[in-house]
Amino acid sequence: MSRAKITVDRDFVLSDLDRRVFGAFVEHLGRCVYGGLYEPGHATADERGFRGDVMALTRELGATIIRYPGGNFMSGYDWEDGVGPVEQRPTKLDLAWFSTETNRFGTNEFIDWCRKAGVEPMLGVNLGTRGMDEARQYLEYCNHPAGSHFADLRRSHGYEAPHDVKVWCLGNEMDGPWQIGAKTAAEYGRIAQETAKAMRWIDPTLILSACGSSHRQMPTYGAWEYEVLDQCFNEVDVISLHTYFANRADDIDEYFGVIDQMDAFIKEVVSICDAVAAKRRSPKRIMLSFDEWNVWYKANTIEHMRKPGWPVAPPLLEEVYNMEDALIVGGALITLMNNADRVKYACLAQLVNAIGPIMTETGGPAWRQTIFHPFALAARHGQGRVLQAKVEAPAVATKLLPEMPLLLTAVTEDPATGRLSVFALNRSRTEALDVEIELRGFDAEVELVEAIELHHANLKATNTRSAPDTIRPASNQDMRIQGATVRAVLKPLSWNVVVLRHGREAPAR
Ligand code: AHR
Repeated sequence: MSRAKITVDRDFVLSDLDRRVFGAFVEHLGRCVYGGLYEPGHATADERGFRGDVMALTRELGATIIRYPGGNFMSGYDWEDGVGPVEQRPTKLDLAWFSTETNRFGTNEFIDWCRKAGVEPMLGVNLGTRGMDEARQYLEYCNHPAGSHFADLRRSHGYEAPHDVKVWCLGNEMDGPWQIGAKTAAEYGRIAQETAKAMRWIDPTLILSACGSSHRQMPTYGAWEYEVLDQCFNEVDVISLHTYFANRADDIDEYFGVIDQMDAFIKEVVSICDAVAAKRRSPKRIMLSFDEWNVWYKANTIEHMRKPGWPVAPPLLEEVYNMEDALIVGGALITLMNNADRVKYACLAQLVNAIGPIMTETGGPAWRQTIFHPFALAARHGQGRVLQAKVEAPAVATKLLPEMPLLLTAVTEDPATGRLSVFALNRSRTEALDVEIELRGFDAEVELVEAIELHHANLKATNTRSAPDTIRPASNQDMRIQGATVRAVLKPLSWNVVVLRHGREAPAR
């Protein structure tokens, strides 16, 4: 067994944690909407066709905000097709996923579903095949109270009160050649600027997010962010980041390195945002929206992305997650929390069936994939503000990193409840870690609320329809508390949360 130490000082606050980092994503893609969250006639469906089992799992997952309607789908979407009487809605070809879109589910259904699930909606406008005019009309439909054509159209559809959607994406992955209406940075920066300007004139309270690069390996990465922000810096609040993790070499040490790469990616984009600010001598800070992230590599061959014959809601991107993927997702959540000063929004991509933490059988049951668990635990226990902990732990050399620390942690503290949560990933393949957690500036005595571990001897173990609970959290009994010092033994290749309670109010800041 190796030893490690985490020192937590209550005065070392990184930032308040915006709980919208625990967001997810619903795209018209495969069976995410149809057969996922919406399936009229399903045994658990309500009168609107919303699956009750998926709704219950979404609440348990604890997603705080959900991005919609895409993704690539958004770049060819006509929002008007998805509102008004269902029987009058057109059926169209979706060129993003080579599917047939029936438009049975649209913006109003999504908003109703979000309200029922207790999540905030995040919408996006189509800057692929359409542009500023569509964006301002869509916003007027959603957010303007009354007395204009599109606001009154919404009211005629049965929605008297505005939807009041605050967070809007200005297109999706506009740098990607696979995107309908892909653009150069100069083209996109200008359209984003003018669209944001018009949208803000309608509703000055919006949070507007410009597209960053589709991923960190894009040939224009870095230059794209700089040029886009140089154009629309004054008009936008946020820039997006997307990443999908893969274990192509089937090497867990190398796979763990993707978490460190995610951290580097965030810091690089922060630097670019601040360089654009510095050029203007501006105190404004552009925040980050990591609005697509997950593991996705087993179900991303062409057979998983496209089915012949323009089918309706075909099974696409149905990645089956295993134990090691759950460790990666848990590590990524730690990274997002540790960058809470700049990452204010993040969306696990996606929610159901298509690279989702929730899996369903159309007409059958729904179950939790392995990655559901670290997400649900982080969303439940990541509250309040993030503290900067000092971590002393052994490191190993891997193919990606000369020195990969074996222990990754994030610490949150909620002054409202006195709860302190320590999230910890032990990346050692062989060694348990005997971790001492020293708490400074808290009560002399702290109390253990719970200690939870996610671990399985088989890294390739999965949750399936017939064995849905192979991977699930368990209580970690190997814990001791003495005064303000906690000792926990973390199994090799395990993701953990230790929840403590103390009584002292946080000092006023
Ligand atoms: O989440 C799946 C797809 O991945 C999204 O539609 C797109 O934005 C990204 O490339």
